[in-house]
Amino acid sequence: MIRKCLFPAAGYGTRFLPATKAIPKEMLPIVSKPLIQYGVEEAIEAGMDTMAIITGRGKRAIEDHFDISYELEHQIKGSSKEHLLKEIRELVLNYTFTYTRQKEMKGLGHAVLVGETLIGNEPFGVVLADDLCEGEKRGVMAQMVELYKKFRCSIVAVMEVDEKDIHKYGVVDAKELEEGVYIIKDMVEKPKAAEAPSNLAVIGRYILTPDIFEILKTTEPGVGGEIQLTDALKAQAQKGMVLAYKFKGKRFDCGSIDGFVEATNYFYNKDKEKS
Ligand code: G1P
Repeated sequence: MIRKCLFPAAGYGTRFLPATKAIPKEMLPIVSKPLIQYGVEEAIEAGMDTMAIITGRGKRAIEDHFDISYELEHQIKGSSKEHLLKEIRELVLNYTFTYTRQKEMKGLGHAVLVGETLIGNEPFGVVLADDLCEGEKRGVMAQMVELYKKFRCSIVAVMEVDEKDIHKYGVVDAKELEEGVYIIKDMVEKPKAAEAPSNLAVIGRYILTPDIFEILKTTEPGVGGEIQLTDALKAQAQKGMVLAYKFKGKRFDCGSIDGFVEATNYFYNKDKEKS
């Protein structure tokens, strides 16, 4: 039902310099898989088959990753390493990857609007690959698609965060509709803790209805001079309905060094337990 998933991936990744000087931050590995591949796998698990990736200058490695590498595959064919490429090869062969470039960094809202040409007039998922999620039983995006089937409106994933971290997020003012599902009344991007309407912070998983594009076209720059997706969602919530969903699972903030290391340890230990 929701076929496409948008991945804003044009950001510079300055927090990881010098590692991200020549490598996109989305390609930094958590154990042996680049961050963005975790996001792509989550979208696929949710039933999506087309990945719409918003790239920018210096991001070619993402396109190469989601493509066949004849030379490499030829080299390792028949060797003990062949199985290491099996998963990514199946992903590349069975799903569609489309790309467009965000030429100027004008914020997350702008990145989503740039994706209109890849998405068209249908509801779609958005994954911020920096937020690495592991759902309980099902992936976070799959949980959200389930909810979309019932309500047919935009949905943002939220989690409770500590007061000291609230200024890093979009925060919702919302009324609980059923367990873990809230109707958004208001939203604010990166508020001061004292001014935050709640401790429910938006994390990088969204399902958006395509009317968001028209709203984004008239959304003025907000916090940090950027076109904020949060501001467009607030307008959408006030016109119709937008839900916040307290997802079931874990989330690692891989946009920060601490979160990145935490995710690395977690997935390393998990892999070890399996083997
Ligand atoms: C973006 C969004 C913010 C959201 C966050 C989740 O901010 O603007 O609303 O809470 O992602 O990770 P960024 O982290 O890009 O500054």
